[in-house]
Amino acid sequence: MMSDTLCKHIAIIMDGNGRWAKKRGMPRTFGHKKGAENVVNITRAMKESGVKYLTLYAFSTENWQRSQDEVTALMQLLRDYLDKEFKEIMENNVRIVFIGERDMLAEDIQQKIKTVEAESAGNTDLTLCIALSYGSRQEILCAAKKAMTLALEKKISPNDLSVEMFSSLLYTKDIPNPDILIRTSGEQRISNYLLWQLAYTELFFTNTMWPDFGKDELLDIIEKFNTRERRYGKN
Ligand code: FPP
Repeated sequence: MMSDTLCKHIAIIMDGNGRWAKKRGMPRTFGHKKGAENVVNITRAMKESGVKYLTLYAFSTENWQRSQDEVTALMQLLRDYLDKEFKEIMENNVRIVFIGERDMLAEDIQQKIKTVEAESAGNTDLTLCIALSYGSRQEILCAAKKAMTLALEKKISPNDLSVEMFSSLLYTKDIPNPDILIRTSGEQRISNYLLWQLAYTELFFTNTMWPDFGKDELLDIIEKFNTRERRYGKN
């Protein structure tokens, strides 16, 4: 059953995989494996919530600086996810899009991403946006460079640049701004995630580690959002 909500878009910072594993005496990569399983779980729950967009922070620009082993493990999890979940994604009418610096990714992952995006482009129940090799300052810089190029080519003048036009130069050009941001694991930071897009987003922080973050907590947050009054700086 779909519930009624004004929330169109939930963005999540999936934090705490490492600590979740450590507490169990397991390697960090085991936590990431459980985290990837939870991506499937939460995507299913989203369909029931009636919310149409979900953006997940899977790998930040800064995450490239983690140990070689951890980076390799995360990239492998992503390959496995794209291979194994493709069927379910299509069966569930989910559209997948990726935001981030694609050039940094291995050639085969770039290829897989392109295929999944193209094949799922017509799906309409849920848009799952995966932030991969993503950094918000880098995204904003990239948009600023595009705007400067347009100006130098005399296609726009500096005064033409509006909030709407700038938004259309970001990776997220086809996606509405998030209504809800959730960060798991007790940290209360934005960590270079969707800085422009989060301007009026309602923020929710939970102590739950990402592998333990389930459907009940997700639906509970949507319920809380429904009762918050948003004024967008107006009275
Ligand atoms: C943060 O936990 C999590 C990440 C850096 C990676 C998130 C990736 C996944 C959940 C799996 C792959 C994703 C997909 C879409 C298949 P952390 O390692 O920073 O945890 P810690 O703060 O406890 O160390």
